[in-house]
Amino acid sequence: MAIQPVKGLWWNEPLHRMELIWIFIAFLWGVVMFSAMIYWHIAGQQNLSNEAYRIDPEVFAAKAEAMTEQYQIGEEGDTGVPVVHPPPGSDVYMIARLWEWWPVLEFEKGQSYRLHLSSMDWQHGFSLQPVNINVQVHPNYDLVLTITPDEAGEYTVVCNEFCGIGHHTMVGKIRVVEKQ
Ligand code: CUA
Repeated sequence: MAIQPVKGLWWNEPLHRMELIWIFIAFLWGVVMFSAMIYWHIAGQQNLSNEAYRIDPEVFAAKAEAMTEQYQIGEEGDTGVPVVHPPPGSDVYMIARLWEWWPVLEFEKGQSYRLHLSSMDWQHGFSLQPVNINVQVHPNYDLVLTITPDEAGEYTVVCNEFCGIGHHTMVGKIRVVEKQ
């Protein structure tokens, strides 16, 4: 004996008005959120002007070393890490490797630089504090950020991608000084 539904086409009744209104509100909200995504991408001023190229770690290291040799102005405390003051407008290199950011960079306020980032080993996370600029740094990729620091001061580069036993010690520096 087959069981008959109480009412024949119970699933085919007209929508209640309240349900229809809620479906419409949900749809409208979906459209608003979707538009906000596109709008904020264009108007939110949060997109980094970055480019990425393939590069061998050795080639990148050679460029960073050449820059350091040419524009080194000292050493960072007793760490032995060179401090480099590259000319405004130039290509600047920062190496990420287990477990340091190399070298320490010194920029002039209001000047633009092309900051190249790459890893010598595996993935690291470049997190510039306290301005909170975050990008992923990979081996074999040269990530270029065009930057114009607008405030003098000392910025800390923190690795925010877990990279092993020394991850928490992987801290670097970028200093921004007044125009010279
Ligand atoms: Cu490099 Cu964590």
